[in-house]
Amino acid sequence: MKWIDLRSDTVTRPTREMMDAMMSAEVGDDVYGEDPSINRLEEVAAQTLGTESALFCSSGTQSNLLALLSHCARGDEYIAGQAAHTYRYEAGGGAVIGSIQPQPIEFEPDGSLDLEKVARFIKPDDFHFAKTRLLCLENTQGGKVLPMAYLKQAREFAHRHNLSFHLDGARVFNAAVKLNLDVREITRYFDTISCCLSKGLGAPVGSVLCGPDPLIKRARRWRKMVGGGMRQAGILAAAGEYALTRHVDRLADDHENALRLARGLSDIPGVEVDLGWVHTNILFADMDADMDVLSAHMKERGILIDNSKHLRLVTHLDVDPEDVEKALEAFKEFFA
Ligand SMILES: Cc1ncc(COP(=O)(O)O)c(C=O)c1O
Repeated sequence: MKWIDLRSDTVTRPTREMMDAMMSAEVGDDVYGEDPSINRLEEVAAQTLGTESALFCSSGTQSNLLALLSHCARGDEYIAGQAAHTYRYEAGGGAVIGSIQPQPIEFEPDGSLDLEKVARFIKPDDFHFAKTRLLCLENTQGGKVLPMAYLKQAREFAHRHNLSFHLDGARVFNAAVKLNLDVREITRYFDTISCCLSKGLGAPVGSVLCGPDPLIKRARRWRKMVGGGMRQAGILAAAGEYALTRHVDRLADDHENALRLARGLSDIPGVEVDLGWVHTNILFADMDADMDVLSAHMKERGILIDNSKHLRLVTHLDVDPEDVEKALEAFKEFFA
């Protein structure tokens, strides 16, 4: 039986073609800089995202951590959203490993950080305080695409306040595809970008940290320290390169499927979806239901969802329009 897994876009399996690319990857020892597939992926990633250099990382968590460690020193501070992955979902790595203090700020409904609020949290140059060094945004944030005008303002703001500017772009290609823009139109505002090759792009493993060469050199040292110096990992990089070069345009299908799912759900009494916020492949639905019972009902029908009342549903490479219809039928059956 094919499971329809709507919990996350991290659940995708490599396609046959991607596995063929992995099988034929040329490999070497990457700690010696001798893995041609990793070297090529890093070149392609830097070129695609418009930065001087890139570094292949084991995960988005690792590439965000390396960014924090490379921008900030012990006793520095970074500002991020209260619900940002870099702050909330990465086990406090910046604080644990880098002694970097986080300053979380509530996201605005559109996924941005209010820059006036951010300004109030920047610490004065006074020995009582940590030194505010870095501003982090997330795009997409909960599936929402940050407005382009805001990115420009935030860039100018960071510059004015002498802050480095990092993008957790785990799903930055979803934003670019949604806006029908070259991804560099988004990434050009940031000093560094971490971009996941797994998730929507469908590679089994990996992320790239992209940025200026001196910073990426520092990140490479930190990567070694946290055990991320992998050896013949070109088999993974080959999947990553395949994802980066073949799986970007198809993200539009995921966005269409998410919207189809959102529209269908919003027609069901007992389910509320704010369709205006369904920009890409992630939607949230509020359900008037016992979520444990609902998720068990769905599971019996081959559909995997979480059991949170503010339910996140995610479309991806392994979900097609027919799967969306099946999921909608199962929801309808439950709420009837
Ligand atoms: C916005 C965002 N950033 C970073 C990550 C971390 O990626 P990984 O799971 O590869 O560590 C995730 C993972 O879901 C994410 O959603």
